[in-house]
Amino acid sequence: MKIQPINYLNGTIKLPGDKSISHRSAIISALANGQTTIENFASSADCASTLECLQKLGVIVERTGSTVIVKGVGKQGFIESASELDCGNSGTTVRMLAGIVAAQPFSSTLIGDESLSKRPMKRVIEPLTEMGAKFDSTENRLPLKVHGTLLKSIFYQPNIASAQVKSCVLLAGLNAVGTTEFTEITPTRDHTERMLRWFGVEITATRTVNGKLLSISGDAELTAKNLVVPADVSSAAFFLVAASCLQNSDVTIENVGLNPTRRGIIDVLKSLGASIEIINETEVCNEPIGDLRVRGSKNLVSKDVIRGEIIANIIDEIPILAVFGTQLENGLEIREAGELRVKESDRIAAAVENLRRMNADVEEFPDGFRVKKSKLKGTKVDSFGDHRIAMAFAVAGLLAEGETEITNAECAAVSFPEFFDVLKSVSN
Ligand code: S3P
Repeated sequence: MKIQPINYLNGTIKLPGDKSISHRSAIISALANGQTTIENFASSADCASTLECLQKLGVIVERTGSTVIVKGVGKQGFIESASELDCGNSGTTVRMLAGIVAAQPFSSTLIGDESLSKRPMKRVIEPLTEMGAKFDSTENRLPLKVHGTLLKSIFYQPNIASAQVKSCVLLAGLNAVGTTEFTEITPTRDHTERMLRWFGVEITATRTVNGKLLSISGDAELTAKNLVVPADVSSAAFFLVAASCLQNSDVTIENVGLNPTRRGIIDVLKSLGASIEIINETEVCNEPIGDLRVRGSKNLVSKDVIRGEIIANIIDEIPILAVFGTQLENGLEIREAGELRVKESDRIAAAVENLRRMNADVEEFPDGFRVKKSKLKGTKVDSFGDHRIAMAFAVAGLLAEGETEITNAECAAVSFPEFFDVLKSVSN
Protein backbone atom coordinates (compact mmCIF):
# COMPACT_ATOMS: atom_id res chain seq x y z
CA MET A 1 0.00 0.00 0.00
CA LYS A 2 1.39 3.38 -1.01
CA ILE A 3 0.33 6.48 0.89
CA GLN A 4 0.82 10.06 -0.29
CA PRO A 5 0.70 13.07 1.99
CA ILE A 6 -2.61 14.96 1.94
CA ASN A 7 -3.74 18.46 2.90
CA TYR A 8 -6.78 17.77 5.04
CA LEU A 9 -9.67 15.37 5.74
CA ASN A 10 -13.25 16.35 5.20
CA GLY A 11 -16.63 14.63 5.28
CA THR A 12 -19.02 12.47 7.25
CA ILE A 13 -18.25 8.80 7.70
CA LYS A 14 -19.87 5.67 9.11
CA LEU A 15 -17.50 3.06 10.47
CA PRO A 16 -18.05 -0.68 10.87
CA GLY A 17 -19.37 -2.15 14.10
CA ASP A 18 -17.19 -2.39 17.17
CA LYS A 19 -14.98 -5.49 17.10
CA SER A 20 -15.08 -6.16 20.85
CA ILE A 21 -18.85 -5.79 21.03
CA SER A 22 -19.40 -7.88 17.89
CA HIS A 23 -17.43 -10.84 19.30
CA ARG A 24 -19.50 -10.68 22.46
CA SER A 25 -22.77 -10.30 20.57
CA ALA A 26 -22.15 -13.55 18.69
CA ILE A 27 -20.90 -15.56 21.67
CA ILE A 28 -23.52 -14.33 24.13
CA SER A 29 -26.37 -14.81 21.60
CA ALA A 30 -25.17 -18.38 21.08
CA LEU A 31 -25.40 -18.98 24.85
CA ALA A 32 -28.93 -17.56 24.97
CA ASN A 33 -32.27 -19.26 24.60
CA GLY A 34 -33.91 -17.97 21.41
CA GLN A 35 -32.87 -16.13 18.28
CA THR A 36 -30.94 -12.83 18.22
CA THR A 37 -30.60 -10.46 15.28
CA ILE A 38 -27.42 -8.42 15.45
CA GLU A 39 -27.22 -5.27 13.36
CA ASN A 40 -24.02 -3.50 12.31
CA PHE A 41 -21.94 -6.59 13.15
CA ALA A 42 -18.26 -5.84 12.53
CA SER A 43 -16.82 -6.53 9.08
CA SER A 44 -13.58 -7.51 10.84
CA ALA A 45 -11.93 -10.83 9.92
CA ASP A 46 -11.51 -11.53 13.66
CA CYS A 47 -15.26 -11.43 14.21
CA ALA A 48 -15.78 -13.75 11.23
CA SER A 49 -13.45 -16.21 13.03
CA THR A 50 -15.75 -16.09 16.06
CA LEU A 51 -18.82 -16.84 13.90
CA GLU A 52 -17.05 -19.76 12.21
CA CYS A 53 -16.00 -21.28 15.53
CA LEU A 54 -19.55 -21.01 16.85
CA GLN A 55 -20.87 -22.73 13.72
CA LYS A 56 -18.41 -25.56 14.28
CA LEU A 57 -19.83 -25.90 17.77
CA GLY A 58 -23.29 -26.45 16.30
CA VAL A 59 -24.68 -22.90 16.39
CA ILE A 60 -26.75 -21.81 13.40
CA VAL A 61 -25.54 -18.42 12.15
CA GLU A 62 -27.00 -16.57 9.18
CA ARG A 63 -25.19 -13.54 7.86
CA THR A 64 -26.31 -10.96 5.32
CA GLY A 65 -23.76 -8.16 5.17
CA SER A 66 -23.61 -6.56 8.58
CA THR A 67 -26.76 -8.29 9.84
CA VAL A 68 -26.18 -11.54 11.67
CA ILE A 69 -28.84 -13.88 13.02
CA VAL A 70 -27.71 -16.28 15.74
CA LYS A 71 -29.94 -19.14 16.85
CA GLY A 72 -29.00 -19.55 20.48
CA VAL A 73 -28.42 -23.08 21.76
CA GLY A 74 -28.49 -22.28 25.48
CA LYS A 75 -25.57 -22.58 27.89
CA GLN A 76 -25.14 -26.35 27.42
CA GLY A 77 -26.40 -26.83 23.87
CA PHE A 78 -23.08 -26.80 22.00
CA ILE A 79 -21.92 -29.92 20.18
CA GLU A 80 -18.40 -31.27 19.78
CA SER A 81 -16.65 -29.83 16.73
CA ALA A 82 -15.51 -32.34 14.13
CA SER A 83 -12.37 -30.27 13.57
CA GLU A 84 -10.16 -27.74 15.32
CA LEU A 85 -11.62 -24.33 16.19
CA ASP A 86 -9.56 -21.86 14.17
CA CYS A 87 -9.47 -18.48 15.90
CA GLY A 88 -7.32 -16.95 13.16
CA ASN A 89 -5.60 -13.80 14.44
CA SER A 90 -8.10 -13.18 17.22
CA GLY A 91 -7.09 -13.19 20.88
CA THR A 92 -10.62 -12.26 21.95
CA THR A 93 -12.07 -15.27 20.10
CA VAL A 94 -9.72 -17.80 21.65
CA ARG A 95 -9.87 -16.44 25.18
CA MET A 96 -13.63 -16.02 25.30
CA LEU A 97 -14.32 -19.36 23.63
CA ALA A 98 -12.00 -21.09 26.09
CA GLY A 99 -14.40 -20.02 28.84
CA ILE A 100 -17.33 -21.59 26.98
CA VAL A 101 -15.82 -24.88 25.80
CA ALA A 102 -14.20 -25.51 29.20
CA ALA A 103 -17.73 -26.07 30.52
CA GLN A 104 -19.01 -28.39 27.76
CA PRO A 105 -19.03 -32.19 28.13
CA PHE A 106 -16.49 -32.74 25.33
CA SER A 107 -13.01 -31.73 24.23
CA SER A 108 -12.16 -28.91 21.82
CA THR A 109 -8.91 -27.86 20.20
CA LEU A 110 -8.31 -24.13 19.75
CA ILE A 111 -5.81 -23.08 17.10
CA GLY A 112 -4.80 -19.80 15.48
CA ASP A 113 -2.46 -18.17 12.99
CA GLU A 114 1.27 -17.63 13.49
CA SER A 115 0.81 -14.47 15.56
CA LEU A 116 -1.92 -15.91 17.82
CA SER A 117 0.11 -19.09 18.30
CA LYS A 118 2.85 -17.03 19.93
CA ARG A 119 0.56 -15.22 22.37
CA PRO A 120 0.21 -16.16 26.06
CA MET A 121 -2.77 -18.33 27.05
CA LYS A 122 -1.73 -19.00 30.65
CA ARG A 123 -3.91 -16.07 31.65
CA VAL A 124 -7.03 -18.12 30.78
CA ILE A 125 -5.63 -21.61 31.41
CA GLU A 126 -4.95 -20.69 35.03
CA PRO A 127 -8.46 -19.64 36.15
CA LEU A 128 -10.19 -22.31 34.05
CA THR A 129 -7.93 -25.01 35.54
CA GLU A 130 -8.89 -23.76 38.97
CA MET A 131 -12.52 -24.20 37.92
CA GLY A 132 -11.83 -27.83 37.00
CA ALA A 133 -11.09 -27.83 33.25
CA LYS A 134 -8.03 -29.66 31.91
CA PHE A 135 -5.74 -28.47 29.12
CA ASP A 136 -3.07 -29.90 26.84
CA SER A 137 -0.65 -27.36 25.41
CA THR A 138 3.03 -26.70 24.99
CA GLU A 139 4.24 -23.76 27.07
CA ASN A 140 0.68 -22.45 27.42
CA ARG A 141 0.50 -21.59 23.73
CA LEU A 142 -1.85 -22.70 20.94
CA PRO A 143 -2.79 -25.30 19.86
CA LEU A 144 -4.74 -25.68 23.06
CA LYS A 145 -6.79 -28.79 23.75
CA VAL A 146 -9.52 -28.07 26.29
CA HIS A 147 -11.12 -30.99 28.13
CA GLY A 148 -14.47 -29.60 29.20
CA THR A 149 -16.16 -30.58 32.43
CA LEU A 150 -18.73 -29.49 34.98
CA LEU A 151 -17.01 -26.39 36.36
CA LYS A 152 -16.94 -25.21 39.94
CA SER A 153 -17.15 -21.55 40.82
CA ILE A 154 -14.05 -19.72 42.01
CA PHE A 155 -12.94 -16.41 43.39
CA TYR A 156 -10.36 -14.99 41.01
CA GLN A 157 -8.10 -11.97 41.10
CA PRO A 158 -5.88 -11.72 38.02
CA ASN A 159 -2.50 -10.03 38.05
CA ILE A 160 -3.02 -8.37 34.66
CA ALA A 161 -5.63 -5.90 33.46
CA SER A 162 -7.39 -7.85 30.71
CA ALA A 163 -11.00 -7.69 29.55
CA GLN A 164 -10.42 -10.94 27.68
CA VAL A 165 -9.51 -12.73 30.91
CA LYS A 166 -12.41 -11.13 32.76
CA SER A 167 -14.82 -12.16 30.00
CA CYS A 168 -13.46 -15.69 29.93
CA VAL A 169 -14.01 -16.14 33.67
CA LEU A 170 -17.47 -14.54 33.65
CA LEU A 171 -18.62 -16.69 30.73
CA ALA A 172 -17.25 -19.82 32.42
CA GLY A 173 -18.99 -18.68 35.60
CA LEU A 174 -22.34 -18.85 33.77
CA ASN A 175 -21.81 -22.59 33.57
CA ALA A 176 -20.22 -23.18 36.98
CA VAL A 177 -21.83 -24.57 40.11
CA GLY A 178 -22.31 -21.67 42.53
CA THR A 179 -21.33 -18.02 42.23
CA THR A 180 -18.11 -17.02 40.49
CA GLU A 181 -16.40 -13.89 41.73
CA PHE A 182 -13.82 -11.83 39.88
CA THR A 183 -11.91 -8.87 41.24
CA GLU A 184 -10.94 -6.24 38.74
CA ILE A 185 -8.10 -4.14 40.12
CA THR A 186 -7.76 -1.91 37.05
CA PRO A 187 -10.95 -1.17 35.08
CA THR A 188 -11.05 -2.78 31.62
CA ARG A 189 -13.73 -2.63 28.92
CA ASP A 190 -17.05 -3.77 30.39
CA HIS A 191 -18.90 -4.80 27.22
CA THR A 192 -19.37 -8.35 28.49
CA GLU A 193 -21.04 -7.22 31.70
CA ARG A 194 -23.28 -4.76 29.84
CA MET A 195 -24.32 -7.32 27.25
CA LEU A 196 -24.97 -10.10 29.75
CA ARG A 197 -27.28 -7.69 31.56
CA TRP A 198 -28.99 -6.92 28.23
CA PHE A 199 -29.69 -10.67 28.00
CA GLY A 200 -31.19 -10.68 31.50
CA VAL A 201 -28.23 -11.97 33.50
CA GLU A 202 -27.66 -10.41 36.88
CA ILE A 203 -24.05 -9.43 37.52
CA THR A 204 -23.42 -7.65 40.75
CA ALA A 205 -20.57 -5.20 41.01
CA THR A 206 -19.30 -4.17 44.44
CA ARG A 207 -16.51 -1.79 45.33
CA THR A 208 -13.85 -3.37 47.56
CA VAL A 209 -10.45 -2.20 48.79
CA ASN A 210 -8.89 -4.06 45.85
CA GLY A 211 -11.13 -2.66 43.14
CA LYS A 212 -14.40 -3.93 41.70
CA LEU A 213 -15.79 -7.32 42.66
CA LEU A 214 -18.02 -8.88 39.99
CA SER A 215 -20.27 -11.86 40.82
CA ILE A 216 -22.15 -14.09 38.43
CA SER A 217 -24.32 -17.09 39.23
CA GLY A 218 -24.09 -20.42 37.44
CA ASP A 219 -27.90 -20.57 37.59
CA ALA A 220 -28.36 -17.52 35.35
CA GLU A 221 -30.19 -18.03 32.05
CA LEU A 222 -29.85 -15.80 28.98
CA THR A 223 -32.85 -14.66 26.98
CA ALA A 224 -32.25 -13.68 23.36
CA LYS A 225 -32.72 -9.97 22.65
CA ASN A 226 -31.85 -8.14 19.45
CA LEU A 227 -28.72 -6.02 19.33
CA VAL A 228 -27.29 -3.04 17.45
CA VAL A 229 -23.51 -2.68 17.53
CA PRO A 230 -22.06 0.86 17.79
CA ALA A 231 -19.32 1.99 15.40
CA ASP A 232 -15.84 1.07 16.61
CA VAL A 233 -14.13 3.87 18.57
CA SER A 234 -10.78 2.11 18.02
CA SER A 235 -11.28 2.44 14.26
CA ALA A 236 -12.43 6.03 14.72
CA ALA A 237 -9.13 6.78 16.48
CA PHE A 238 -7.18 6.76 13.19
CA PHE A 239 -9.45 9.47 11.77
CA LEU A 240 -9.46 11.46 15.00
CA VAL A 241 -5.67 11.62 14.92
CA ALA A 242 -5.31 12.26 11.18
CA ALA A 243 -7.91 15.06 11.22
CA SER A 244 -6.47 16.63 14.39
CA CYS A 245 -3.03 16.88 12.81
CA LEU A 246 -4.12 18.38 9.49
CA GLN A 247 -5.29 22.00 9.58
CA ASN A 248 -8.65 22.66 7.88
CA SER A 249 -9.84 19.13 8.53
CA ASP A 250 -13.46 18.66 9.54
CA VAL A 251 -14.73 15.11 9.88
CA THR A 252 -17.87 13.74 11.51
CA ILE A 253 -17.99 10.08 12.53
CA GLU A 254 -21.46 8.75 13.26
CA ASN A 255 -22.79 6.53 16.04
CA VAL A 256 -19.46 5.81 17.69
CA GLY A 257 -19.35 3.72 20.87
CA LEU A 258 -18.60 5.99 23.84
CA ASN A 259 -18.43 3.44 26.62
CA PRO A 260 -16.41 5.07 29.45
CA THR A 261 -14.10 2.04 29.56
CA ARG A 262 -13.26 2.50 25.85
CA ARG A 263 -13.48 6.22 25.13
CA GLY A 264 -10.21 7.10 26.85
CA ILE A 265 -8.68 7.88 23.47
CA ILE A 266 -11.12 10.77 23.00
CA ASP A 267 -10.29 12.22 26.41
CA VAL A 268 -6.54 11.73 25.88
CA LEU A 269 -6.60 13.39 22.45
CA LYS A 270 -8.59 16.31 23.86
CA SER A 271 -6.11 16.69 26.72
CA LEU A 272 -3.36 16.91 24.08
CA GLY A 273 -5.13 19.75 22.27
CA ALA A 274 -7.39 17.94 19.78
CA SER A 275 -10.70 19.57 18.93
CA ILE A 276 -13.31 16.83 19.28
CA GLU A 277 -16.97 17.54 19.85
CA ILE A 278 -19.44 14.87 20.91
CA ILE A 279 -22.94 15.32 19.53
CA ASN A 280 -26.24 13.40 19.55
CA GLU A 281 -25.32 11.35 22.60
CA THR A 282 -27.68 8.47 23.28
CA GLU A 283 -27.64 4.80 24.27
CA VAL A 284 -28.13 1.62 22.28
CA CYS A 285 -28.42 -1.81 23.91
CA ASN A 286 -26.77 -0.66 27.16
CA GLU A 287 -23.88 1.04 25.32
CA PRO A 288 -23.53 4.85 25.11
CA ILE A 289 -22.98 6.20 21.60
CA GLY A 290 -22.67 9.58 19.87
CA ASP A 291 -21.32 11.36 16.80
CA LEU A 292 -17.79 12.74 16.90
CA ARG A 293 -16.86 15.93 15.08
CA VAL A 294 -13.11 16.44 14.84
CA ARG A 295 -11.36 19.46 13.40
CA GLY A 296 -7.73 20.22 12.71
CA SER A 297 -5.98 21.74 15.70
CA LYS A 298 -3.18 24.28 15.94
CA ASN A 299 -2.25 23.64 19.56
CA LEU A 300 -1.19 20.03 19.90
CA VAL A 301 0.96 19.75 22.99
CA SER A 302 1.68 17.14 25.63
CA LYS A 303 2.28 17.86 29.30
CA ASP A 304 2.53 14.61 31.24
CA VAL A 305 3.63 11.05 30.72
CA ILE A 306 0.63 8.82 29.94
CA ARG A 307 0.59 5.92 32.40
CA GLY A 308 -1.54 4.25 35.07
CA GLU A 309 -5.20 3.29 34.89
CA ILE A 310 -5.85 4.97 31.53
CA ILE A 311 -3.51 2.52 29.74
CA ALA A 312 -6.00 -0.39 29.80
CA ASN A 313 -8.67 1.94 28.42
CA ILE A 314 -6.55 3.07 25.44
CA ILE A 315 -4.55 -0.15 24.97
CA ASP A 316 -5.53 -0.62 21.29
CA GLU A 317 -5.01 3.05 20.44
CA ILE A 318 -1.38 3.30 21.56
CA PRO A 319 0.10 2.62 18.09
CA ILE A 320 -1.80 5.59 16.65
CA LEU A 321 -0.89 7.68 19.71
CA ALA A 322 2.76 6.93 18.96
CA VAL A 323 2.26 8.51 15.54
CA PHE A 324 0.35 11.42 17.11
CA GLY A 325 3.30 12.00 19.43
CA THR A 326 5.47 13.04 16.47
CA GLN A 327 3.12 16.00 15.90
CA LEU A 328 3.01 17.25 19.49
CA GLU A 329 4.96 20.08 21.00
CA ASN A 330 7.04 18.24 23.68
CA GLY A 331 6.44 14.88 21.96
CA LEU A 332 4.80 12.08 23.94
CA GLU A 333 5.84 9.49 26.49
CA ILE A 334 3.74 6.40 27.27
CA ARG A 335 4.72 3.97 30.07
CA GLU A 336 3.28 0.98 31.96
CA ALA A 337 2.06 -0.41 28.66
CA GLY A 338 4.09 -3.65 28.65
CA GLU A 339 0.96 -5.59 27.56
CA LEU A 340 1.55 -4.13 24.11
CA ARG A 341 4.43 -6.54 23.70
CA VAL A 342 2.03 -9.52 23.61
CA LYS A 343 -0.59 -8.15 21.22
CA GLU A 344 -0.94 -9.14 17.52
CA SER A 345 2.69 -7.98 17.23
CA ASP A 346 5.09 -6.52 19.77
CA ARG A 347 3.47 -3.14 19.29
CA ILE A 348 6.15 -1.20 21.15
CA ALA A 349 8.94 -2.64 18.99
CA ALA A 350 6.87 -2.32 15.79
CA ALA A 351 5.89 1.32 16.39
CA VAL A 352 9.42 2.31 17.43
CA GLU A 353 10.98 0.60 14.40
CA ASN A 354 8.59 2.22 11.90
CA LEU A 355 8.84 5.65 13.52
CA ARG A 356 12.63 5.48 13.34
CA ARG A 357 12.45 4.46 9.68
CA MET A 358 10.31 7.56 9.13
CA ASN A 359 12.91 9.81 10.74
CA ALA A 360 11.26 10.22 14.15
CA ASP A 361 13.34 10.62 17.27
CA VAL A 362 12.07 7.87 19.56
CA GLU A 363 13.34 6.05 22.62
CA GLU A 364 12.12 2.55 23.50
CA PHE A 365 11.48 1.34 27.06
CA PRO A 366 10.47 -2.15 28.23
CA ASP A 367 6.99 -0.78 29.02
CA GLY A 368 6.58 2.01 26.46
CA PHE A 369 8.35 4.70 24.49
CA ARG A 370 9.10 8.41 24.28
CA VAL A 371 8.77 10.11 20.91
CA LYS A 372 9.88 13.67 20.19
CA LYS A 373 8.16 16.08 17.86
CA SER A 374 9.58 15.03 14.48
CA LYS A 375 9.28 15.81 10.82
CA LEU A 376 8.20 12.47 9.35
CA LYS A 377 9.70 11.32 6.06
CA GLY A 378 7.97 8.84 3.77
CA THR A 379 9.77 5.51 3.35
CA LYS A 380 9.08 1.77 3.43
CA VAL A 381 7.55 0.58 6.70
CA ASP A 382 6.20 -2.79 7.78
CA SER A 383 2.81 -3.70 9.24
CA PHE A 384 4.48 -6.57 11.09
CA GLY A 385 1.27 -8.42 10.20
CA ASP A 386 -0.59 -6.26 12.71
CA HIS A 387 -3.74 -4.43 11.63
CA ARG A 388 -3.35 -1.52 14.02
CA ILE A 389 0.28 -0.97 13.02
CA ALA A 390 -0.76 -0.96 9.33
CA MET A 391 -3.46 1.68 9.93
CA ALA A 392 -1.38 3.80 12.31
CA PHE A 393 1.39 4.05 9.73
CA ALA A 394 -1.06 4.85 6.96
CA VAL A 395 -1.93 7.92 9.04
CA ALA A 396 1.80 8.60 9.53
CA GLY A 397 2.10 8.49 5.73
CA LEU A 398 -0.56 11.19 5.36
CA LEU A 399 1.48 13.46 7.62
CA ALA A 400 4.90 12.68 6.14
CA GLU A 401 6.95 14.29 3.42
CA GLY A 402 7.01 12.08 0.31
CA GLU A 403 5.58 8.62 -0.26
CA THR A 404 5.18 5.95 2.42
CA GLU A 405 4.96 2.30 1.47
CA ILE A 406 3.44 -0.17 3.93
CA THR A 407 4.19 -3.82 3.35
CA ASN A 408 1.43 -6.33 4.11
CA ALA A 409 -1.05 -3.51 4.74
CA GLU A 410 -3.99 -5.79 3.83
CA CYS A 411 -3.87 -7.13 7.40
CA ALA A 412 -5.93 -4.01 8.28
CA ALA A 413 -8.88 -6.30 7.41
CA VAL A 414 -8.40 -8.05 10.76
CA SER A 415 -10.38 -5.21 12.29
CA PHE A 416 -11.32 -2.81 9.47
CA PRO A 417 -11.38 -4.13 5.88
CA GLU A 418 -12.77 -0.85 4.50
CA PHE A 419 -10.10 1.31 6.15
CA PHE A 420 -8.16 2.43 3.06
CA ASP A 421 -11.36 3.14 1.09
CA VAL A 422 -12.89 5.20 3.90
CA LEU A 423 -9.63 7.06 4.33
CA LYS A 424 -9.52 7.86 0.63
CA SER A 425 -13.13 9.07 0.71
CA VAL A 426 -12.30 11.86 3.18
CA SER A 427 -8.79 12.71 1.94
CA ASN A 428 -8.10 15.97 0.13
C1 S3P B 1 -10.30 -6.90 23.91
C2 S3P B 1 -9.53 -6.63 25.00
C3 S3P B 1 -8.16 -6.13 24.91
C4 S3P B 1 -7.86 -5.54 23.54
C5 S3P B 1 -8.35 -6.42 22.44
C6 S3P B 1 -9.84 -6.65 22.54
C7 S3P B 1 -11.65 -7.41 24.14
O1 S3P B 1 -7.27 -7.17 25.18
O2 S3P B 1 -6.49 -5.30 23.39
O3 S3P B 1 -8.07 -5.84 21.19
O4 S3P B 1 -12.46 -7.39 23.19
O5 S3P B 1 -11.93 -7.87 25.25
P1 S3P B 1 -6.87 -7.52 26.70
O6 S3P B 1 -8.12 -7.57 27.44
O7 S3P B 1 -6.20 -8.85 26.68
O8 S3P B 1 -5.95 -6.41 27.09
